[in-house]
Amino acid sequence: MALFSRSRPAAPEPAPADPGSLAKLKERLAQTESQPLLRIPSEDLTGEARAVAESLNRRLDALAASEKEQQQFIADVSHELRTPLTVLRGSLEVALEEERPAEEYREAIGNALLEVRHLTRISQNLLFLTRGESGRVTLSFANLDLGRFTSDTVRDLAPAAADRQMRLDAAVPAKPVYVFADAGRLQQVLHNLIENALQYSEPGGRVHVRVGSAPGEAIVAVSDTGIGIPEDDLPYVFERFFRSKASRRTNPGGSGLGLSIVRWIVEAHKGRVTAESVLGKGSTFTVRLPVV
Ligand SMILES: Nc1ncnc2c1ncn2[C@@H]1O[C@H](COP(=O)(O)OP(=O)(O)OP(=O)(O)O)[C@@H](O)[C@H]1O
Ligand SMILES: [Mg+2]
Repeated sequence: MALFSRSRPAAPEPAPADPGSLAKLKERLAQTESQPLLRIPSEDLTGEARAVAESLNRRLDALAASEKEQQQFIADVSHELRTPLTVLRGSLEVALEEERPAEEYREAIGNALLEVRHLTRISQNLLFLTRGESGRVTLSFANLDLGRFTSDTVRDLAPAAADRQMRLDAAVPAKPVYVFADAGRLQQVLHNLIENALQYSEPGGRVHVRVGSAPGEAIVAVSDTGIGIPEDDLPYVFERFFRSKASRRTNPGGSGLGLSIVRWIVEAHKGRVTAESVLGKGSTFTVRLPVV
């Protein structure tokens, strides 16, 4: 009898297990009972016994890779939390060191509050991403006109642009461009992209949002005349916690999670998002969504 059934009958049948190999495999499986993550030596096995050992090893490798990723994630989170917590502690400790005028207390509390906001943002973003990745974010899809939706969002962000002395405008086609999307999540995408465009620019710059369509897809592109992204960094901007060195100056409060969220939401809509940039000249982030 076959030790395991394979779903693809076209694959070449391994030679039947010879009794010696089978006995070795059983013995090795018994040995791993106390250490279930141990790989099973397979080089000296033959036939089906070897195929079983190799298949188990592939699963163990996948498990090990996912565990490594988890550990890296925890290390990244701890690292990102350390800086705001250190600044927060420093501000409060200095404030309490001696009697001070009310103004100095106010300043210390203001600084502490900034760090608390930063920490809150990190935790909210992380919660969203981990929920999303484990399938616990439900999207409510509806037909919506991407053009109108974009104009409304751009209008909402006008005060943020004015605060940074930036010009923000949108160009949308006269005809509706319908997409099947979750309005709240789509707004999060546009907010994150436009906020980045505003934050990674010097005052006096321009952010332009364009809606368009191509066969089968609706497009929204956010372009800025900002600091740009070094070519070597471009492949990593959608990774969790990634921040370009220069960006820390124009936006010290970033958490490096905004674009990971953008990518997660866009992919949950079966779309894709890409980035182009010329250092010192500006960047364009383009979202493509399937049309209804
Ligand atoms: N429009 C842009 N121009 C230049 N650099 C950008 C732009 N958008 C993103 N980046 C770079 O990509 C990095 C990641 O962006 P992301 O939005 O994920 O994080 P963040 O803006 O640093 O923090 P937050 O999580 O608060 O959004 C930024 O730190 C910046 O280096
Ligand atoms: Mg951002």
